[in-house]
Amino acid sequence: MTTSSPGPTDTDTMLVRGGRPVDGEIAVRGSKNALPKAMVAALLTTERSRITNISAIRDIDVVDELIRLAGGTVSQDTDEITITAPTFDALGEDDIMRLHAASRIPVLTTAVSLHRTGHAVVAAPGGCSIGPRPVDYHLDVLRAFGARDDHRGDIIELRVDRMRGARVALPFPSVGATEQFLFASVLAEGDSELTNAAIEPEILDLIAVLQKMGAIISVEPNRTIRVTGVDGLGGFEHRVIGDRLEAASWASLALATGGTITVHGVQQQLLSTFLNVYRRAGGEFSIDAAGETLTFRRARRMLRPLALETDVHPGFMTDWQSPFVTALTQAEGVSVVHETVYEDRLGYTEALRSLGAQIQVFTECLGPTRCRFGAANHRHSAVVVGPTRLHGAELVVPDLRAGFSYVIAAASAEGESLIHGVDLLDRGYGNFRTKLAAVGVDHT
Ligand code: EPZ
Repeated sequence: MTTSSPGPTDTDTMLVRGGRPVDGEIAVRGSKNALPKAMVAALLTTERSRITNISAIRDIDVVDELIRLAGGTVSQDTDEITITAPTFDALGEDDIMRLHAASRIPVLTTAVSLHRTGHAVVAAPGGCSIGPRPVDYHLDVLRAFGARDDHRGDIIELRVDRMRGARVALPFPSVGATEQFLFASVLAEGDSELTNAAIEPEILDLIAVLQKMGAIISVEPNRTIRVTGVDGLGGFEHRVIGDRLEAASWASLALATGGTITVHGVQQQLLSTFLNVYRRAGGEFSIDAAGETLTFRRARRMLRPLALETDVHPGFMTDWQSPFVTALTQAEGVSVVHETVYEDRLGYTEALRSLGAQIQVFTECLGPTRCRFGAANHRHSAVVVGPTRLHGAELVVPDLRAGFSYVIAAASAEGESLIHGVDLLDRGYGNFRTKLAAVGVDHT
């Protein structure tokens, strides 16, 4: 694509001039998928809570607004958030509809609202480009704790006098439903048990926060979580774990362009599965003694193709998939990808084809696991033929991880690419443009 224009004027569009290796370093801060949950935990107490290592991501603003609407106070500076929620006033339905459509976090306050007021309202959450994102598991969890639900169109109203301990078995290790169980069980009367629970590091970080508040939670073998309800919880101070999903995105950029990127702020053990796959594909990394500074680079002229299957932790995270697969378009040979967590998380490959990538998507399970989507006609497997020379194109970002993939593809392509909807990246990549400049991606 050629353009003589001086470059995009609105913040939502970015012109990327590709074709050269990246080189630089960036610092990653608190995890997008842990930080907002710690903010929700702060609503379980009337005492003051303080969260540090925060990053400038949009989900914080959604929870900040929700807390203020519920009568709480939030004060933010560049590195920390302080929250006090002396009361928890029910939100108006318009606010609930708007906040639930904007993010997946507000639904997690349902258990908190039931504890604080005996009442809660859930709006059918906005789906997004990776699937319908339903909340049926969340409702099953809350009913198990005694909540009665009444459906009125897109609104679900729940009531309960006092939540009682429950035994819940999840049909799938859902991160959100596990978090909903944790928020429900810590103040419920008696003991609770969750089987087939999610055990992602972000879940363990939330458990650490709740334990600081006075909760009694144990993570047993084979994905079982046991909780003994307590009468009340106190405030906490917590430094959120680094964002391992963002770190892997920048690592994939280095792999795809043949450059070098040093990432500060994420512990090696949070990335161990990713690091193994990275090395198998022909990437290399060096890690400092503290294990919190990793330098990623391509170790060989041509990348190796892979058979890749996403899974729940400790498998290869679904949020690592689209940026990493974009790098596989530069591998010498045929790679196979099987996405088993979301039914529709390969849509971004359509845009990659417009830059010249050779990717075909299938409804079959092209991996060792027969997953939930195989017999349901979901296009959730892909074959990637490489290496392909990518050329500039015009792209529209559908979701934040696909958006990062487009930046990787544009930075790897010869020529210019115009990317619309870049603001979506601000949901999960704090100070995105500053970091992009720091690693030498030529963009305006
Ligand atoms: C969290 O989403 C993350 N988001 C996602 O990150 C991440 O991809 C996902 O966990 C899996 O690790 C946040 O933490 C804010 P799920 P969540 O419940 O909790 C189905 C990113 O890019 N499901 O584990 O919403 C669901 O449709 C984002 O950082 C139901 O069917 O994910 C999906 O197929 C994307 N019913 C699967 O379970 C439910 O009630 C996993 O969803 C809930 C989920």
